[in-house]
Amino acid sequence: MIDRTRLLVMVSGNGSNLQAILDACADGWLTADVVGVISNKADIHALARATKANVATVVVTPKSEEDRRQYDRRLVDIALGFTPDFVILAGFMRVLSMEFLAHFPQRVVNLHPALPGELFGTRAIERAFAESRDNWRTHSGVTVHLVPDEGVDTGPVLGSAIVPIHADDTLETFSERMHQQEHELLVQTIGALCRQQTLLQSKEISQ
Ligand code: GRF
Repeated sequence: MIDRTRLLVMVSGNGSNLQAILDACADGWLTADVVGVISNKADIHALARATKANVATVVVTPKSEEDRRQYDRRLVDIALGFTPDFVILAGFMRVLSMEFLAHFPQRVVNLHPALPGELFGTRAIERAFAESRDNWRTHSGVTVHLVPDEGVDTGPVLGSAIVPIHADDTLETFSERMHQQEHELLVQTIGALCRQQTLLQSKEISQ
């Protein structure tokens, strides 16, 4: 029997990308389940979305006395407990160290609201929009990539899509289009990863 893909989603905020994944699992578009949601913050909307979908949530709040690696070690124990096939960083606003990443080679997937190689770090949507108002940027885009190391928003690209910036856009209308594109690309890319995994499983079974 082919197993459904186990997704662990990590979040820090609103969770609209988590919602897109949950919806795609529920309506059968993805042959996958969100088996858990980890957040570095309490009281965020993403947690309510997970709870509504009956998905287990864990909040791992950083302690003042621990450094990044110590925090990530705590994260690893919790993440391994969910036995995920893939860890999806859907607006998880922390850089993960090798302490965490080494446990999930080729299995950590990040979403970056800019085209590959552009606008690394936070507030990429706002920065792209500001550059368009300075009259030189006509578009931005979104990227889904693997996270092999501690590079911020770098790593092998799994998919990307261009999002135009129109002359009459406001930051709100542009952000809205960016988020829609993020939801689409993230779900499509996870779909491709699930199909790859299914293929590998069926080869193993037939051997
Ligand atoms: C997204 O724009 C993502 O690319 C960025 O943070 C935002 C998260 O949005 N890293 P949401 O929490 O999924 O609504």
